[in-house]
Amino acid sequence: MMRKVLFGAAMAAVMFLAGCGGGDEPFTPPPGNGGPPPSQLPSPSTAPALKASLAAKFGVVNFPIGAAIEPASTLNADAPLLLKHFSSITAENAMKPLNIWPNMPNTAPAQPAASPNFVEADVIANFAAANGIRLRGHTLVWHQSAPSWLFVGDLNNSANYHAALLQHLRTYITAVMGRYPEVYAWDVVNEAATDTPNAANPYRTDSLWYQAYQQFAARPGGEYVIDAFRIASEVRGTLSNPGMKLMLNDYNTELPGKRANVLKIVQDVINAGVPIDGVGHQFHLQVGADVAQVTAAFTAVEAISTTLVNHVTELDVSIYADPGTCYAQGTIPPCLPDYGASPPQSVLSQQATLYRALFNAFNRPSVQSVSLWGIADNHTWLNTYPVARTNRPLLFDTARDPKWAFWTVVDPSITVP
Ligand code: G3I
Repeated sequence: MMRKVLFGAAMAAVMFLAGCGGGDEPFTPPPGNGGPPPSQLPSPSTAPALKASLAAKFGVVNFPIGAAIEPASTLNADAPLLLKHFSSITAENAMKPLNIWPNMPNTAPAQPAASPNFVEADVIANFAAANGIRLRGHTLVWHQSAPSWLFVGDLNNSANYHAALLQHLRTYITAVMGRYPEVYAWDVVNEAATDTPNAANPYRTDSLWYQAYQQFAARPGGEYVIDAFRIASEVRGTLSNPGMKLMLNDYNTELPGKRANVLKIVQDVINAGVPIDGVGHQFHLQVGADVAQVTAAFTAVEAISTTLVNHVTELDVSIYADPGTCYAQGTIPPCLPDYGASPPQSVLSQQATLYRALFNAFNRPSVQSVSLWGIADNHTWLNTYPVARTNRPLLFDTARDPKWAFWTVVDPSITVP
């Protein structure tokens, strides 16, 4: 399951290795190489495997290039795309706490369901295992997916309540990490940082986890992050997968003020003497994004410690360059109007150019995994967020064929119309 990763090999050797590694398809230079720039999209049948192309580009055998999927994708027309192009899979929803271990119905105070439900997550994990695809874990602790049984305890006594929270965290994390010992990286905590730029308190306070820990003034609300990493690290020690990375995952790390908050939390974990292996950058971007700030997000993590790694965990590029107010209001306007089913070529070209620059920026040793938040444009959360509107944020179109964005990533010589 776990594959050897090499850095810095000469490109010729790398292309050879990429062709031989773990049954991956040989890298075939795409048709645009060396020839005149095509004015039309190259034929889908000529598309190289994304995973082989990136392994060659990054000089890393079996570089994890991933997609977030629902269980259905293992059975429908997504499956051939996953098998050809991707070397990593993330469960878009199936491994979230509310999905795996909800409350037992009609219990007050809430009790956990009698046992965790791994049915959907197993479909994804089994597909990955059966096909030599690596599995990324998302996510163990997240305020948006937190069943209330986790927060039940003796509210009259600070020590007792903290003990209950710890026990619940340990029960949950032990069960889920133990079920999927092959996971190469877990988003141990997702989205813990506040959106308020450069905040004195870097933690979001609208989290049930933060609020539970803050029931008692003596305990800082953000301590749940440290506890979660401590427990995850202890559980990792019981599994035969010492290479498993324990990550803090968040969005908007390309924005300096949000990034500062995320980095403060990383530092809190380090200062507590608790293991943390890196930062997951979601990178839900939009056309017009500043690639220099994407690189700055990586270098900021590298500056904390050379032992920390960067993962790109939820990459997509919205075709709408919305103002910030769009996300606050969720209406059109201020969100840009719907392009409908056929967005203009100029926007798709802009998106493709950005994707090329992004993958160039991802080519650095600290970036050890890149995942897209979906496979093809037929399934994306951005069709309903921040407003219901057609979006086309991924590398493959609604027919699951490679877009200009795909070709710019795999072929440095291609020019978009
Ligand atoms: O499966 C149920 C279905 O049975 C029900 O009929 C339907 C009614 O609304 O809901 C379905 O569940 C939805 C689920 O997606 C599957 O489609 C949930 O309501 C919906 O809230 C959920 O949204 C997911 C969201 O996280 C919240 O968990 C998105 O698919 C998923 O893309 C999104 O992913 C997040 C990452 O985990 C963290 N970073 C941001 C990213 C985008 O929001």
